[in-house]
Amino acid sequence: MAAKHHILLLGGTGICGLLFAQAALHDGHTLTLYARTPSKVPAAMAANPNLHIIKGDLGDAEGLKAAAACGADTFVSVAGPTLGKRGGTPITNALKILYPLLLANGTTKRVMVLSTASYSAPQDTASLKWFVAIQCYIKVIGGDTYEEISGFTKETVALGSAIEWTVFRVPLLKGEELGAGGEVNTAWVGDKRGKDGLHLDRGRLVRWVLKEMDEKKWVGLCPLLSNA
Ligand SMILES: *[C@@H]1O[C@H](CO)[C@@H](O)[C@H](O)[C@H]1NC(C)=O
Repeated sequence: MAAKHHILLLGGTGICGLLFAQAALHDGHTLTLYARTPSKVPAAMAANPNLHIIKGDLGDAEGLKAAAACGADTFVSVAGPTLGKRGGTPITNALKILYPLLLANGTTKRVMVLSTASYSAPQDTASLKWFVAIQCYIKVIGGDTYEEISGFTKETVALGSAIEWTVFRVPLLKGEELGAGGEVNTAWVGDKRGKDGLHLDRGRLVRWVLKEMDEKKWVGLCPLLSNA
């Protein structure tokens, strides 16, 4: 039986976040959502005694302080570009406040953060497919998104050996259900075997994160995930 965790979740009211919360609660973990709009959590989920919600904005230092003291052993962020649409780099700014608090408290031992391939890992190699995809992402999403993604990813990578962190980079996400499962490729951009795919089901993503939380195969690394 896998260990039960207390997970602090950022981005928990987005599509990915709600799926992650559903799967984590199903697996028996305790969850604290840090959310600006708790009413986005479905009533049935909010009624789960293992779910706690701290209401707060990404720019709210007091709220982030409360989040850092919630007792979670694991921090997961699935906060993504859609949040960045509000302009500026709110996620990056929030993590700049949150990480020192988590390190100072010492209860949190594991950090897992969603990013995209617009952040290059040192192991990546040139890929026309990905060059085009990244240009499209940024043009479609626009604005401060690129700066935001690289900003919060760099903050995470900068944790170095202070904590066991993993950045999981995702391609285009599909599906809004946990689904039947399926394998996930874990690769670098430019993978010679073509395992650097452009699509990933959210259900597979969520299960991968829950598994990697304990397996710790990718500590200190930024793998790219895709449907196998
Ligand atoms: C650290 O976290 C614990 C919960 O694990 C909490 O009780 C405590 O108040 C926190 N300490 C500080 C200084 O925030």
